Amino acid sequence: MVLSMSEVSIAHSGEVIRHASKLLSDYFQKNIQFTKITQLSEPGRRNLILRLESERQIDEIPATFILKKTEIEKERLTDETEHEQLSRFAHDWAGLQFLTHIGGEHAPKFYVGSIEHKFIIIEDLGISHPSLVGPLTRKYSADNLKQAESALIAYVQRLGKMHADTAGKLDLYNFIVKEIYPSIDRIHAFSDSEISKMTKLIKSLTGHYSNELDNEICDVKNYIETNNEFTVFLHGDICPDNVFYNENNMRFIDFEYGDFGNAFIDAAYLRMFMPSCWCSKRFPSYIISKMESIYRDELKKKIVSASDDLIYEKQLTYACAYWMLRGLQVLDEVNLLEREWIGSSGPVDADSAWEPKTNASRPRILSRLEAFISLAKTTGHLPHLTIAFIALLERLKILWPETSGMSLYPAFQNVV
Ligand SMILES: Nc1ncnc2c1ncn2[C@@H]1O[C@H](COP(=O)(O)OP(=O)(O)O)[C@@H](O)[C@H]1O
Ligand SMILES: [Mg+2]
Repeated sequence: MVLSMSEVSIAHSGEVIRHASKLLSDYFQKNIQFTKITQLSEPGRRNLILRLESERQIDEIPATFILKKTEIEKERLTDETEHEQLSRFAHDWAGLQFLTHIGGEHAPKFYVGSIEHKFIIIEDLGISHPSLVGPLTRKYSADNLKQAESALIAYVQRLGKMHADTAGKLDLYNFIVKEIYPSIDRIHAFSDSEISKMTKLIKSLTGHYSNELDNEICDVKNYIETNNEFTVFLHGDICPDNVFYNENNMRFIDFEYGDFGNAFIDAAYLRMFMPSCWCSKRFPSYIISKMESIYRDELKKKIVSASDDLIYEKQLTYACAYWMLRGLQVLDEVNLLEREWIGSSGPVDADSAWEPKTNASRPRILSRLEAFISLAKTTGHLPHLTIAFIALLERLKILWPETSGMSLYPAFQNVV
Protein backbone atom coordinates (compact mmCIF):
# COMPACT_ATOMS: atom_id res chain seq x y z
CA MET A 1 0.00 0.00 0.00
CA VAL A 2 1.30 3.45 -0.83
CA LEU A 3 0.04 6.42 1.11
CA SER A 4 0.83 9.96 0.20
CA MET A 5 2.79 12.00 2.69
CA SER A 6 -0.37 13.81 3.80
CA GLU A 7 -2.20 10.52 4.45
CA VAL A 8 0.72 9.25 6.50
CA SER A 9 0.76 12.54 8.37
CA ILE A 10 -2.91 12.20 9.25
CA ALA A 11 -2.37 8.74 10.66
CA HIS A 12 0.92 9.55 12.34
CA SER A 13 1.85 12.98 13.43
CA GLY A 14 4.43 14.79 11.38
CA GLU A 15 6.35 14.95 14.62
CA VAL A 16 7.48 11.33 14.21
CA ILE A 17 8.75 12.07 10.71
CA ARG A 18 10.49 15.26 11.83
CA HIS A 19 12.12 13.40 14.68
CA ALA A 20 13.22 10.60 12.33
CA SER A 21 14.78 13.16 10.03
CA LYS A 22 16.61 14.84 12.91
CA LEU A 23 17.98 11.59 14.33
CA LEU A 24 19.23 10.42 10.93
CA SER A 25 20.74 13.84 10.19
CA ASP A 26 22.62 13.69 13.49
CA TYR A 27 23.71 10.12 12.80
CA PHE A 28 25.07 10.82 9.31
CA GLN A 29 26.11 14.40 10.03
CA LYS A 30 24.21 15.54 6.90
CA ASN A 31 20.78 17.05 6.53
CA ILE A 32 18.38 14.20 5.68
CA GLN A 33 14.86 15.03 4.49
CA PHE A 34 12.40 12.51 3.13
CA THR A 35 11.10 12.83 -0.40
CA LYS A 36 8.62 9.95 -0.19
CA ILE A 37 7.08 7.93 2.61
CA THR A 38 5.32 4.63 2.01
CA GLN A 39 3.34 2.75 4.61
CA LEU A 40 4.12 -0.98 4.39
CA SER A 41 1.98 -2.21 7.28
CA GLU A 42 -1.77 -2.67 7.12
CA PRO A 43 -3.75 -0.05 9.05
CA GLY A 44 -4.51 -1.12 12.60
CA ARG A 45 -1.51 -3.48 12.96
CA ARG A 46 0.34 -3.19 16.24
CA ASN A 47 3.46 -2.02 14.42
CA LEU A 48 3.62 0.74 11.87
CA ILE A 49 6.21 0.08 9.17
CA LEU A 50 7.24 2.94 6.89
CA ARG A 51 9.71 3.09 4.06
CA LEU A 52 11.43 6.48 4.15
CA GLU A 53 13.10 7.69 0.97
CA SER A 54 15.58 10.53 0.87
CA GLU A 55 17.74 11.99 -1.83
CA ARG A 56 21.01 10.14 -1.87
CA GLN A 57 23.77 12.60 -1.18
CA ILE A 58 26.81 10.40 -0.86
CA ASP A 59 27.33 6.67 -1.23
CA GLU A 60 27.68 6.13 2.51
CA ILE A 61 24.11 7.28 3.11
CA PRO A 62 21.39 4.90 1.95
CA ALA A 63 18.55 6.31 -0.15
CA THR A 64 15.89 4.42 1.79
CA PHE A 65 15.29 3.36 5.38
CA ILE A 66 12.70 1.33 7.26
CA LEU A 67 11.00 2.96 10.24
CA LYS A 68 9.27 0.53 12.63
CA LYS A 69 7.10 2.14 15.24
CA THR A 70 5.39 0.24 18.03
CA GLU A 71 1.91 1.57 18.58
CA ILE A 72 1.46 1.46 22.33
CA GLU A 73 -2.18 0.73 23.14
CA LYS A 74 -3.25 2.02 26.50
CA GLU A 75 -6.87 0.97 26.05
CA ARG A 76 -8.43 -2.48 26.18
CA LEU A 77 -7.57 -3.22 22.53
CA THR A 78 -4.82 -5.64 23.43
CA ASP A 79 -4.09 -8.41 25.94
CA GLU A 80 -0.67 -6.91 26.60
CA THR A 81 0.02 -4.39 29.35
CA GLU A 82 1.79 -1.17 28.42
CA HIS A 83 4.90 -2.52 30.12
CA GLU A 84 4.81 -5.68 27.97
CA GLN A 85 4.43 -3.61 24.81
CA LEU A 86 7.35 -1.41 25.81
CA SER A 87 9.41 -4.51 26.55
CA ARG A 88 8.65 -5.89 23.11
CA PHE A 89 9.72 -2.64 21.50
CA ALA A 90 12.90 -2.52 23.59
CA HIS A 91 13.81 -6.11 22.67
CA ASP A 92 13.45 -5.33 18.96
CA TRP A 93 15.68 -2.28 19.31
CA ALA A 94 18.25 -3.90 21.61
CA GLY A 95 18.54 -7.02 19.44
CA LEU A 96 19.13 -5.06 16.24
CA GLN A 97 21.56 -2.63 17.87
CA PHE A 98 23.45 -5.50 19.49
CA LEU A 99 23.70 -7.49 16.25
CA THR A 100 24.79 -4.40 14.33
CA HIS A 101 27.47 -3.76 16.92
CA ILE A 102 28.97 -7.25 16.77
CA GLY A 103 28.75 -7.42 12.94
CA GLY A 104 28.21 -10.60 10.95
CA GLU A 105 25.28 -9.63 8.72
CA HIS A 106 22.70 -11.50 10.78
CA ALA A 107 20.08 -8.76 10.55
CA PRO A 108 19.41 -5.36 8.95
CA LYS A 109 21.66 -2.63 10.20
CA PHE A 110 20.34 -0.57 13.09
CA TYR A 111 20.74 3.21 12.70
CA VAL A 112 18.80 5.13 15.34
CA GLY A 113 15.86 4.80 17.69
CA SER A 114 13.53 7.05 19.64
CA ILE A 115 12.35 6.13 23.11
CA GLU A 116 9.99 9.11 23.08
CA HIS A 117 8.21 8.04 19.86
CA LYS A 118 8.83 4.28 20.17
CA PHE A 119 10.41 3.79 16.79
CA ILE A 120 13.59 2.41 15.34
CA ILE A 121 15.14 3.13 11.95
CA ILE A 122 16.92 0.26 10.26
CA GLU A 123 18.42 -0.76 6.94
CA ASP A 124 15.92 -1.32 4.12
CA LEU A 125 16.39 -4.88 2.87
CA GLY A 126 14.32 -4.33 -0.26
CA ILE A 127 10.88 -3.71 -1.66
CA SER A 128 9.79 -7.30 -2.04
CA HIS A 129 10.05 -9.56 0.96
CA PRO A 130 11.32 -13.00 -0.03
CA SER A 131 11.20 -15.23 3.02
CA LEU A 132 10.80 -18.90 3.88
CA VAL A 133 7.05 -18.66 3.37
CA GLY A 134 7.46 -18.82 -0.42
CA PRO A 135 9.71 -21.89 -0.64
CA LEU A 136 7.90 -23.83 2.10
CA THR A 137 4.35 -23.24 0.90
CA ARG A 138 4.75 -23.72 -2.83
CA LYS A 139 3.16 -26.89 -4.17
CA TYR A 140 5.47 -29.91 -4.30
CA SER A 141 7.63 -30.41 -7.38
CA ALA A 142 11.18 -31.70 -7.58
CA ASP A 143 12.38 -28.17 -8.15
CA ASN A 144 10.31 -26.62 -5.38
CA LEU A 145 11.50 -29.30 -2.99
CA LYS A 146 15.10 -28.43 -3.84
CA GLN A 147 14.43 -24.74 -3.28
CA ALA A 148 12.73 -25.39 0.05
CA GLU A 149 15.75 -27.42 1.18
CA SER A 150 18.20 -24.72 0.08
CA ALA A 151 16.20 -22.06 1.90
CA LEU A 152 16.15 -24.15 5.08
CA ILE A 153 19.89 -24.73 4.84
CA ALA A 154 20.46 -20.97 4.63
CA TYR A 155 18.12 -20.51 7.60
CA VAL A 156 19.80 -23.02 9.91
CA GLN A 157 23.27 -21.86 8.91
CA ARG A 158 22.35 -18.29 9.73
CA LEU A 159 20.84 -19.40 13.02
CA GLY A 160 23.92 -21.40 13.97
CA LYS A 161 26.24 -18.55 12.99
CA MET A 162 24.22 -15.98 14.95
CA HIS A 163 24.19 -18.18 18.02
CA ALA A 164 27.90 -18.94 17.76
CA ASP A 165 28.80 -15.28 17.22
CA THR A 166 26.80 -14.10 20.20
CA ALA A 167 27.86 -16.71 22.79
CA GLY A 168 29.57 -15.04 25.75
CA LYS A 169 28.29 -11.55 24.89
CA LEU A 170 25.48 -11.25 27.43
CA ASP A 171 27.08 -8.30 29.22
CA LEU A 172 27.14 -6.21 26.07
CA TYR A 173 23.48 -7.02 25.37
CA ASN A 174 22.49 -6.16 28.95
CA PHE A 175 24.31 -2.86 28.67
CA ILE A 176 22.36 -1.96 25.52
CA VAL A 177 19.02 -3.06 26.99
CA LYS A 178 19.57 -1.00 30.14
CA GLU A 179 20.02 2.16 28.10
CA ILE A 180 16.69 1.60 26.34
CA TYR A 181 14.33 0.24 28.98
CA PRO A 182 15.92 -0.80 32.27
CA SER A 183 12.82 -2.59 33.58
CA ILE A 184 12.48 -4.75 30.45
CA ASP A 185 10.79 -8.18 30.84
CA ARG A 186 13.03 -11.13 30.11
CA ILE A 187 11.23 -13.24 27.58
CA HIS A 188 11.95 -16.91 27.95
CA ALA A 189 10.92 -17.63 31.50
CA PHE A 190 8.03 -19.27 33.31
CA SER A 191 6.43 -17.67 36.35
CA ASP A 192 5.50 -19.86 39.32
CA SER A 193 1.83 -19.33 38.57
CA GLU A 194 2.32 -20.45 34.94
CA ILE A 195 4.05 -23.60 36.17
CA SER A 196 1.30 -24.40 38.62
CA LYS A 197 -1.37 -23.84 35.96
CA MET A 198 0.36 -26.27 33.57
CA THR A 199 0.79 -28.87 36.28
CA LYS A 200 -2.92 -28.64 37.08
CA LEU A 201 -3.85 -28.87 33.41
CA ILE A 202 -1.76 -32.01 32.89
CA LYS A 203 -3.25 -33.52 36.04
CA SER A 204 -6.83 -32.71 35.08
CA LEU A 205 -6.44 -34.14 31.58
CA THR A 206 -4.36 -37.22 32.35
CA GLY A 207 -4.58 -37.90 36.07
CA HIS A 208 -0.78 -37.77 36.13
CA TYR A 209 0.57 -36.05 39.19
CA SER A 210 3.70 -36.86 41.17
CA ASN A 211 6.67 -35.18 42.78
CA GLU A 212 8.85 -36.58 40.03
CA LEU A 213 6.68 -34.98 37.36
CA ASP A 214 6.66 -31.70 39.28
CA ASN A 215 10.42 -31.82 39.57
CA GLU A 216 10.85 -32.40 35.85
CA ILE A 217 8.62 -29.44 34.99
CA CYS A 218 10.71 -27.34 37.40
CA ASP A 219 13.85 -28.68 35.71
CA VAL A 220 12.53 -27.35 32.40
CA LYS A 221 11.87 -23.96 34.02
CA ASN A 222 15.40 -23.93 35.47
CA TYR A 223 16.92 -25.01 32.18
CA ILE A 224 15.22 -22.09 30.44
CA GLU A 225 16.28 -19.56 33.04
CA THR A 226 19.83 -20.69 33.82
CA ASN A 227 22.83 -19.52 31.86
CA ASN A 228 25.30 -22.07 30.57
CA GLU A 229 27.69 -22.43 27.62
CA PHE A 230 24.67 -22.49 25.28
CA THR A 231 23.45 -19.08 26.41
CA VAL A 232 23.37 -16.99 23.25
CA PHE A 233 21.34 -14.23 21.68
CA LEU A 234 18.22 -15.88 20.35
CA HIS A 235 15.57 -14.63 18.03
CA GLY A 236 12.68 -16.15 19.97
CA ASP A 237 10.15 -15.97 17.11
CA ILE A 238 12.19 -17.32 14.24
CA CYS A 239 9.25 -17.91 11.90
CA PRO A 240 9.25 -18.39 8.11
CA ASP A 241 8.11 -14.75 7.63
CA ASN A 242 10.65 -13.25 10.02
CA VAL A 243 13.53 -13.74 7.63
CA PHE A 244 14.69 -11.99 4.48
CA TYR A 245 16.07 -14.49 1.99
CA ASN A 246 17.61 -12.71 -0.94
CA GLU A 247 19.86 -14.41 -3.45
CA ASN A 248 21.03 -16.95 -0.91
CA ASN A 249 21.60 -14.26 1.67
CA MET A 250 19.56 -15.03 4.77
CA ARG A 251 18.96 -12.34 7.35
CA PHE A 252 16.62 -12.20 10.32
CA ILE A 253 14.12 -9.43 11.09
CA ASP A 254 11.64 -8.70 13.87
CA PHE A 255 13.45 -9.18 17.17
CA GLU A 256 10.56 -8.35 19.49
CA TYR A 257 11.06 -11.69 21.25
CA GLY A 258 14.86 -11.64 20.96
CA ASP A 259 16.80 -12.08 24.17
CA PHE A 260 19.66 -14.02 25.64
CA GLY A 261 18.76 -17.59 26.50
CA ASN A 262 19.43 -21.19 25.59
CA ALA A 263 20.30 -21.60 21.89
CA PHE A 264 17.97 -24.58 21.56
CA ILE A 265 14.89 -22.45 22.15
CA ASP A 266 15.50 -21.30 18.56
CA ALA A 267 17.16 -24.50 17.36
CA ALA A 268 14.09 -26.58 18.28
CA TYR A 269 11.94 -24.62 15.82
CA LEU A 270 12.15 -27.24 13.07
CA ARG A 271 11.50 -30.20 15.35
CA MET A 272 8.59 -28.37 16.99
CA PHE A 273 7.25 -27.29 13.57
CA MET A 274 7.66 -23.52 13.98
CA PRO A 275 5.83 -23.27 17.31
CA SER A 276 5.16 -19.51 17.55
CA CYS A 277 4.30 -18.99 13.89
CA TRP A 278 1.18 -18.71 11.77
CA CYS A 279 3.08 -20.49 8.98
CA SER A 280 3.39 -23.80 10.80
CA LYS A 281 3.24 -27.25 9.22
CA ARG A 282 5.20 -30.46 9.61
CA PHE A 283 8.68 -31.22 8.18
CA PRO A 284 9.63 -34.76 7.15
CA SER A 285 11.97 -36.29 9.73
CA TYR A 286 14.93 -36.58 7.33
CA ILE A 287 14.76 -32.80 6.83
CA ILE A 288 14.80 -32.19 10.58
CA SER A 289 17.86 -34.44 11.05
CA LYS A 290 19.67 -32.87 8.13
CA MET A 291 18.97 -29.28 9.21
CA GLU A 292 19.81 -29.90 12.85
CA SER A 293 23.11 -31.37 11.84
CA ILE A 294 23.97 -28.33 9.65
CA TYR A 295 22.95 -26.03 12.51
CA ARG A 296 25.06 -28.03 14.95
CA ASP A 297 28.15 -27.78 12.73
CA GLU A 298 27.92 -23.99 12.94
CA LEU A 299 27.39 -24.03 16.68
CA LYS A 300 30.38 -26.33 17.24
CA LYS A 301 32.69 -23.73 15.76
CA LYS A 302 32.34 -21.64 18.93
CA ILE A 303 30.66 -23.82 21.54
CA VAL A 304 32.78 -26.88 22.21
CA SER A 305 30.14 -28.86 24.15
CA ALA A 306 27.90 -28.84 21.08
CA SER A 307 30.08 -31.74 19.86
CA ASP A 308 29.11 -33.87 22.84
CA ASP A 309 26.08 -36.00 21.90
CA LEU A 310 24.82 -36.46 25.45
CA ILE A 311 24.94 -32.76 26.25
CA TYR A 312 23.47 -31.81 22.87
CA GLU A 313 20.55 -34.24 23.17
CA LYS A 314 19.68 -33.04 26.65
CA GLN A 315 19.56 -29.39 25.58
CA LEU A 316 17.39 -30.22 22.59
CA THR A 317 14.96 -32.38 24.58
CA TYR A 318 14.51 -29.70 27.24
CA ALA A 319 13.94 -27.00 24.62
CA CYS A 320 11.23 -29.14 23.00
CA ALA A 321 9.66 -29.64 26.43
CA TYR A 322 9.67 -25.85 26.83
CA TRP A 323 7.80 -25.36 23.56
CA MET A 324 5.42 -28.17 24.44
CA LEU A 325 4.59 -26.48 27.73
CA ARG A 326 4.09 -23.18 25.90
CA GLY A 327 1.76 -25.08 23.55
CA LEU A 328 -0.28 -26.22 26.55
CA GLN A 329 -0.61 -22.60 27.60
CA VAL A 330 -2.09 -21.80 24.20
CA LEU A 331 -4.42 -24.78 24.53
CA ASP A 332 -5.66 -23.28 27.77
CA GLU A 333 -5.75 -19.64 26.64
CA VAL A 334 -7.78 -20.19 23.48
CA ASN A 335 -9.86 -22.90 25.13
CA LEU A 336 -8.95 -25.55 22.58
CA LEU A 337 -10.62 -28.25 24.62
CA GLU A 338 -13.99 -26.65 23.91
CA ARG A 339 -13.50 -25.61 20.31
CA GLU A 340 -10.99 -25.58 17.48
CA TRP A 341 -9.22 -22.28 16.85
CA ILE A 342 -7.93 -21.12 13.48
CA GLY A 343 -5.47 -18.25 13.75
CA SER A 344 -5.05 -15.66 11.01
CA SER A 345 -2.48 -16.26 8.29
CA GLY A 346 0.01 -13.71 6.96
CA PRO A 347 0.64 -12.73 3.34
CA VAL A 348 1.64 -15.43 0.84
CA ASP A 349 2.79 -15.33 -2.78
CA ALA A 350 0.33 -15.81 -5.65
CA ASP A 351 1.73 -19.30 -6.36
CA SER A 352 1.46 -20.44 -2.75
CA ALA A 353 -0.50 -23.57 -1.84
CA TRP A 354 -1.09 -22.31 1.72
CA GLU A 355 -4.70 -22.75 2.80
CA PRO A 356 -5.62 -20.38 5.64
CA LYS A 357 -8.83 -22.29 6.35
CA THR A 358 -6.90 -25.41 7.32
CA ASN A 359 -4.53 -23.65 9.70
CA ALA A 360 -6.08 -25.12 12.83
CA SER A 361 -4.53 -25.30 16.29
CA ARG A 362 -5.48 -28.77 17.54
CA PRO A 363 -3.37 -30.59 14.92
CA ARG A 364 -0.37 -28.55 16.06
CA ILE A 365 -0.70 -29.81 19.62
CA LEU A 366 -1.03 -33.43 18.46
CA SER A 367 1.95 -33.27 16.10
CA ARG A 368 4.17 -31.52 18.62
CA LEU A 369 3.30 -34.04 21.31
CA GLU A 370 4.21 -36.84 18.90
CA ALA A 371 7.50 -35.14 18.03
CA PHE A 372 8.38 -34.52 21.66
CA ILE A 373 7.52 -38.07 22.73
CA SER A 374 9.57 -39.57 19.94
CA LEU A 375 12.63 -37.45 20.80
CA ALA A 376 12.37 -37.97 24.56
CA LYS A 377 12.00 -41.73 24.14
CA THR A 378 15.24 -41.73 22.14
CA THR A 379 17.23 -39.49 24.49
CA GLY A 380 15.73 -40.82 27.75
CA HIS A 381 15.39 -37.35 29.27
CA LEU A 382 12.35 -36.17 31.26
CA PRO A 383 10.82 -39.67 31.59
CA HIS A 384 7.88 -38.65 33.81
CA LEU A 385 6.94 -35.77 31.56
CA THR A 386 7.17 -38.11 28.60
CA ILE A 387 4.76 -40.58 30.21
CA ALA A 388 2.39 -37.74 31.07
CA PHE A 389 2.54 -36.46 27.49
CA ILE A 390 1.87 -39.94 26.11
CA ALA A 391 -1.25 -40.03 28.27
CA LEU A 392 -2.16 -36.50 27.18
CA LEU A 393 -1.85 -37.44 23.51
CA GLU A 394 -4.11 -40.44 24.02
CA ARG A 395 -6.65 -38.33 25.85
CA LEU A 396 -6.68 -35.55 23.25
CA LYS A 397 -7.13 -38.10 20.47
CA ILE A 398 -10.24 -39.33 22.27
CA LEU A 399 -11.52 -35.81 22.92
CA TRP A 400 -10.88 -34.72 19.33
CA PRO A 401 -11.80 -37.82 17.29
CA GLU A 402 -12.03 -35.96 14.00
CA THR A 403 -8.60 -34.29 14.38
CA SER A 404 -5.37 -35.72 13.08
CA GLY A 405 -1.85 -34.30 13.17
CA MET A 406 -0.59 -31.47 10.98
CA SER A 407 0.09 -32.02 7.32
CA LEU A 408 3.53 -31.45 5.82
CA TYR A 409 4.46 -28.07 4.37
CA PRO A 410 3.22 -28.09 0.76
CA ALA A 411 6.77 -28.21 -0.66
CA PHE A 412 7.34 -31.56 1.13
CA GLN A 413 3.95 -33.08 0.53
CA ASN A 414 5.14 -35.86 -1.77
CA VAL A 415 8.03 -36.77 0.47
CA VAL A 416 7.84 -39.73 2.86
N1 LIG B 1 14.55 -4.09 7.25
C1 LIG B 1 13.48 -4.25 6.47
N2 LIG B 1 13.58 -4.04 5.13
C2 LIG B 1 12.50 -4.17 4.32
N3 LIG B 1 11.27 -4.52 4.74
C3 LIG B 1 11.10 -4.73 6.08
C4 LIG B 1 12.21 -4.62 7.00
N4 LIG B 1 11.75 -4.88 8.23
C5 LIG B 1 10.44 -5.16 8.10
N5 LIG B 1 10.04 -5.07 6.80
C6 LIG B 1 8.70 -5.35 6.27
O1 LIG B 1 7.73 -5.12 7.28
C7 LIG B 1 7.08 -6.36 7.65
C8 LIG B 1 6.84 -6.39 9.15
O2 LIG B 1 8.08 -6.26 9.83
P1 LIG B 1 8.36 -7.02 11.19
O3 LIG B 1 9.61 -6.48 11.79
O4 LIG B 1 8.28 -8.49 10.99
O5 LIG B 1 7.13 -6.50 12.08
P2 LIG B 1 5.98 -7.25 12.88
O6 LIG B 1 6.52 -7.30 14.28
O7 LIG B 1 4.82 -6.34 12.76
O8 LIG B 1 5.78 -8.61 12.28
C9 LIG B 1 8.03 -7.44 7.18
O9 LIG B 1 7.35 -8.66 6.95
C10 LIG B 1 8.61 -6.83 5.91
O10 LIG B 1 7.72 -7.01 4.83
MG1 LIG C 1 7.14 -10.12 11.81
